[in-house]
Amino acid sequence: ASLGDLDGSVPPPRRTQDRRSATALASTNGFHNSPDTDPALPANREWARDILQRVPTSTLGEATVAANTVGSEAEVDNVIGAALAAGSSWGAMSGSQRAEVLHRAGSALEKRRADLIEVMAAETGKTLDQSDPEVSEAVDFAHYYAELARELDAVDGAVFEPSRLTVVTPPWNFPVAIPAGSTLGALAAGSSVIIKPAQQARRCGAVMVEALWEAGVPRDALRLVNMANPALGETLIADHRIDRVNLTGAFETAEKFRAFRHDLPLLAETSGKNAIIVTPSADLDLAVRDVVSSAFGHAGQKCSAASLVILVGSVSRSRRFHDQLLDAVRSLPVGYPTDPTVRMGPIIAPAEGKLLRGLTTLAPRERWVVTPRRRDDSGRLWTPGVRAGVQRGSDFHLTEFFGPVLGIMTAHTLQEAIDMQNEVDYGLTAGLHSLDRQELSLWLDQVQAGNLYVNRGTTGAIVRRQPFGGWKKSAIGAGAKAGGPNYLIGLGRWRSAPSAA
Ligand code: SER
Repeated sequence: ASLGDLDGSVPPPRRTQDRRSATALASTNGFHNSPDTDPALPANREWARDILQRVPTSTLGEATVAANTVGSEAEVDNVIGAALAAGSSWGAMSGSQRAEVLHRAGSALEKRRADLIEVMAAETGKTLDQSDPEVSEAVDFAHYYAELARELDAVDGAVFEPSRLTVVTPPWNFPVAIPAGSTLGALAAGSSVIIKPAQQARRCGAVMVEALWEAGVPRDALRLVNMANPALGETLIADHRIDRVNLTGAFETAEKFRAFRHDLPLLAETSGKNAIIVTPSADLDLAVRDVVSSAFGHAGQKCSAASLVILVGSVSRSRRFHDQLLDAVRSLPVGYPTDPTVRMGPIIAPAEGKLLRGLTTLAPRERWVVTPRRRDDSGRLWTPGVRAGVQRGSDFHLTEFFGPVLGIMTAHTLQEAIDMQNEVDYGLTAGLHSLDRQELSLWLDQVQAGNLYVNRGTTGAIVRRQPFGGWKKSAIGAGAKAGGPNYLIGLGRWRSAPSAA
């Protein structure tokens, strides 16, 4: 792929110690999380400014890469054929051999940190505070899955047989970490991959794939495709030579995939409608910080975002808590990611449909305590909104809106709050802010979500430390969690080692 101005001329970031994982670095396999860029260092701030100045404001949000576009059913067939042919030698390598390539892929992604931050800003409006950790996560996936690949060689009495071909269809909201994680996981397990980046984030996908190719992943074992039209996407997933389709996207997209082909071997991470409960025992300052970052990071466009906060008992009447929360929301710097101080960027496209409803329409008994406003003519830049009085069973309680709007609910007891948290169809992330052990154990016994966070925000799972995967309608066909120790073992088949009679 020609990446135009992405010529790698921005120097790599300088590093200090690993700030995200200052403790608990010891592991059985030598893996540790890669550090984010430390903004305390003036050189890093300069580095970031240089990158963001290169982002053209006039074309923000336009996906430009047309390379690797497949235009016909015959071309789809060719891509599948080539990937399968290459797959046999990739899959025949030992896990340890693949691990070496994957470790190099981790280093290649790290080298591309600047390019990746730049394309995330340009295509998806991602701000620096979100895109820099996203690169770290992609790098982590490479090194972590490399080590898991080695372990596949070492299971006594069983032999791992890789799948042959995996199709990866990632979302635009994590346009680097999710495609990287899904692709690297499949590659680590010995499968060839055809990746079709989200159309809003084609360059992000292209830069990520370039890095993997540079690192030695064979170009045929990892194919990048963009589709000239949606029907070709259907041709791709209809092909019975495909062992697995790894989708991350809206629940409705997964349903479309399944409606199109009912026997599709689908592994999907989908939507969420996530709440953080705050009890009277909580550290309320911490709760404010975590609710705001979970609700409004990347303008709320995360399946993991907290779009509800449920206030228990006296917290719901606490003037201090309300004032602090609303002040924090009102003071969030909103703008385009070309400004490194911005903390809430634009939404991916002009608000319409469900999201526009979420930003403009109140149900009976709801009221805006911070009114979301359109900041410019683009329809993409909104200030954050907070609605109070969200009622149990209402549209806002149960629907994922995927944007910068937070709803406040109140509960008399923790039990009532847990029931509200569980009442949604999804089960992706759930948060509790409490400093009381009994409350914690009550919550842990009952909460129905795959990713639980106590006294922390609900977004930004960290590879190995917080393996990520949902329950209920948030996951389809998913077993082991991304970034967790069992992720690879389900991505192939096991046979018992031949034994002599
Ligand atoms: N892994 C992301 C998060 O934790 C969501 O996909 O926010």
